[in-house]
Amino acid sequence: MSIAEHSVDATYHKMRERLKDVVPDAELRYKAELAFEINRIKEQRRAVILGHNYMEPALFHSVPDFTGDSLELCRKAAQTNKDPIVFCGVRFMAETAKILNPDKTVLLPSLQAGCSLAASITAEDVRILKKQFPGVPVVTYINTYADVKAECDIVCTSSNAAAVIESFKTDTVIFLPDEYLAKNVARETGKHIIFPSKDPLVGKNENGDIEYKLIGWHGKCEVHEKFTVEDIRNVRKQFPDVVVLAHPECSPEVVEASDYSGSTTAMIKYVEKTKAPRYLLLTECSMGDNIAAENPEKEMLRLCSVRCPHMNQITLEDTLASLRENRYVINVPEDIRVRAHRAVMRMLEIGSPVAAKD
Ligand code: 13P
Ligand code: SF4
Repeated sequence: MSIAEHSVDATYHKMRERLKDVVPDAELRYKAELAFEINRIKEQRRAVILGHNYMEPALFHSVPDFTGDSLELCRKAAQTNKDPIVFCGVRFMAETAKILNPDKTVLLPSLQAGCSLAASITAEDVRILKKQFPGVPVVTYINTYADVKAECDIVCTSSNAAAVIESFKTDTVIFLPDEYLAKNVARETGKHIIFPSKDPLVGKNENGDIEYKLIGWHGKCEVHEKFTVEDIRNVRKQFPDVVVLAHPECSPEVVEASDYSGSTTAMIKYVEKTKAPRYLLLTECSMGDNIAAENPEKEMLRLCSVRCPHMNQITLEDTLASLRENRYVINVPEDIRVRAHRAVMRMLEIGSPVAAKD
């Protein structure tokens, strides 16, 4: 994936081949210089760069050794023998790489790269829930911080959430913290969902037994919650042949009104193998540009520029500074790491529906 050319000029030409319709030429020239320097230092330091599908096109197509969705990058982090690991993604992803690689240096190019879902729940919230529902297994979405993962039995991503839930033979599962993903998975698995309430009777029958199947949390992705069914209707009116794809962090109504829903990589693969001329992607906008660069014959419709403000923090400039100055080093306290590691490994043992591109 990474464009490890022998000169800035060669790097520029390689990037231009892929990105000429997506990135203005002056920007490409400047970014090729940065990409060349990043790849040079990366080789010198024996580093690996992991890039999430939401990275901006010039970065996405030039410096990562591996690109993918959260699950694929988690698997790559588990397999790499390179050190340091530079994570072009958000903090919870870099933390997961550190959980899997305690002896390696994990670098995140910007400390501003957070996530509204990860910020929506604390370890204390999970401890309270476990007291409220003793013995009920706890599944956490990978979009959480290490101390939250440490309180949970297993991690999941958008590409394996249903399989992870079904791996439990119990009737009831706590699923945290994404409300919409939980509702989408509830529909997929046929499980009834409720949300925790201060009322001790909510969700219990007259004997005090839990009578529901999935216990959720009110976390939301600040990007995916913006998309509406009205958006889809308007685009379909104008382009009746459009294929609409929605990430499962979108509301259940939006997912229902779409033609396909899946993880970021699942959406990329869906566009690659489908013959339709135009697509509407209800997810972070950079990914639409990344797909457009690889599928020039297909049209990617844009609602507007819906960028994740956290993913957007990761730039080529900061990635270069990260490699040059060893910043920002991600650490996870060992007692938390060991418990979070168990939950991550349990997920990795379940198997992967898609493979990373390299
Ligand atoms: P994926 O696991 O589908 O890449 O999703 C990560 C994410 O943060 C989506 O907003
Ligand atoms: Fe978090 Fe949403 Fe950004 Fe993904 S797109 S990192 S879920 S805020």
